[in-house]
Amino acid sequence: MKEATKYLCALLLAAAATTATAAGDGIVLSHLSTTNTLVRVTGKAHYLLLPVQESIDDARVNVLVDGKVAETIFVRLAQSKADFLVPFDLTPYRGHNVILDVVTPQGRGSVREAKSDVCWRDMQLSDSFDTANREAAYRPAYHHAPLYGWMNDPNGMFYKDGTWHLYYQHNPYGSKWQNMTWAHSTSTDLIHWKHEPIAIKPNGLGTVFSGSCAIDHNGSAGYGNDAVIALYTSAGTSQMQSLAASNDGGQTFNIYGANPVCALESEARDPNMFWNERIGKWNIILAHPLDYEMLIFSSPDLKEWTLESKFGKGLGGQDGIWECPDLFELPVEDENTRKWVLISNINPGGPAGGSATQYFIGDFDGKTFTPDTDKDGNVPTKWMDYGKDNYASVSFSDGPAGRRTIIGWMSNWQYAPEVPTQQFRSANTLPRDMKLFRGADGEIYLASEPAAELLALRDKLTVNVKKSSIGKNVVRHSLPKNGLCEILLDVDARKATKFILTLSNAAGEKVEMTYDPKANTLAMDRTKSGITDFSRDFPAVTVAPTLGTAGKVAMRIFVDRSSIELFGDGGHSVMTNLVFPTKPYTTLSVSAEVGKARVTNLKVYSIK
Ligand code: FRU
Repeated sequence: MKEATKYLCALLLAAAATTATAAGDGIVLSHLSTTNTLVRVTGKAHYLLLPVQESIDDARVNVLVDGKVAETIFVRLAQSKADFLVPFDLTPYRGHNVILDVVTPQGRGSVREAKSDVCWRDMQLSDSFDTANREAAYRPAYHHAPLYGWMNDPNGMFYKDGTWHLYYQHNPYGSKWQNMTWAHSTSTDLIHWKHEPIAIKPNGLGTVFSGSCAIDHNGSAGYGNDAVIALYTSAGTSQMQSLAASNDGGQTFNIYGANPVCALESEARDPNMFWNERIGKWNIILAHPLDYEMLIFSSPDLKEWTLESKFGKGLGGQDGIWECPDLFELPVEDENTRKWVLISNINPGGPAGGSATQYFIGDFDGKTFTPDTDKDGNVPTKWMDYGKDNYASVSFSDGPAGRRTIIGWMSNWQYAPEVPTQQFRSANTLPRDMKLFRGADGEIYLASEPAAELLALRDKLTVNVKKSSIGKNVVRHSLPKNGLCEILLDVDARKATKFILTLSNAAGEKVEMTYDPKANTLAMDRTKSGITDFSRDFPAVTVAPTLGTAGKVAMRIFVDRSSIELFGDGGHSVMTNLVFPTKPYTTLSVSAEVGKARVTNLKVYSIK
């Protein structure tokens, strides 16, 4: 009898195994076909950890809560090997029936084969998710980066009560672009960033693309005085604009039930708003990417929008789509005037190839942006940063003391998903304060000055040379062993041809920065900087005009583990470039090609 029961059970189990297998404790799998599996969560835990294999396509996962689709996510569920785990947060659904209805992309030959996919075996429930840094070589030491997963554009930045709020385009389920969500970080010093809970998640209208936040001081949108309002693009089948509001200073947002607040007949995205005193209304600037232009609206309450004008057709860079706009007014340094700056990020078509930030200087009356023209009557194309890795730059609204502080995404769409990191992908630039100045050619330009807060990064002064005359013979200085540093120097190269500053390491990898006094340009060569072969677009020499007095330049360079930001003349010219050296750069060399360059105040600070 005992034997018979055993036999029966074995039979039943074998039968069940054709449809259900067990993964980790508290997870029951039912394989329904070669591409469809139900994952029933029976255990209690904070997270369901999902194994990811970067090289395969996304599986579509409908999360059913008590039988209703609560959310849909896309995850590269591991087939032959798991590169890493990502956490699916179960806490909102505690006490409910949770089933993940998974459709995998690759049809397998048989259900038996599909069942052997690594994801089913490695899926597990856990109360914690390990975010300890696994990217010692390239995770920035002093730039903002996500704890894990993919990041692109910074979004919705604002300043309130001593705190800088930074949201960003985030994939919580992988290190490539997908599942766009607004993740959130805060800082009180623009150096240390605290990772906050996710702020805005996708809903039925779509994923959460880029946008902006503003403090609604007079409660015009109906959420009370000083509510934080977010406008963003809902990206579903089409793109439309949505509103969300926060009454707890930007920690949590309630998505407006009557969204979208703006729906056009063509692709439009990345709304950026500000309260315009002059018209007593809001202005919103919206990218019309495929028309290579920006749309300008006014609104009394951020819900009813009136199209006032369009800007950009045929102007500036027209070799790529227009995205992520910004519009603000600033004083012109040393002059008694103010000017408006219209920012238009474009991709591709940047001066160094791929993505870049262009801007226009002009006037704005609440309806129309009128760009300044140059001596010949043309609207000049101007670039904020001539490196390859500064994109989607937009400013913090409500900055203290009239500050217009900008952060950019430190990558380029040409290769962002391929860079050699995996736990996280990409970081943001250092914060930069925008200033307007008149260049030697009479034009007004936008300067990006490293935020004053960054002075607090300085630790030990490890090199300090007051004056030196630099010729052909290379002069070398040691850099901190961990390669992290800030370098400053003033160069007078009027009696030389090129002045060359090189960062190098023990592996023979180097980055060469060259000042050409005749051309009045700065260049950065990262062709031999380390790992460069993950994309043919990565090795590059980028060049920026210096706009100042020919023959002299003040250089300020920030070196982090995988980035170099070069500021010429207090941010009059800027280049941001990623680098992936196999060892930190520990030597700084300077030389002049022909003649002698005078170098004064050469300083190197290690970083705290
Ligand atoms: C720019 C961009 C935006 C869009 C977002 C989506 O990098 O393409 O236009 O809102 O990324 O993640």
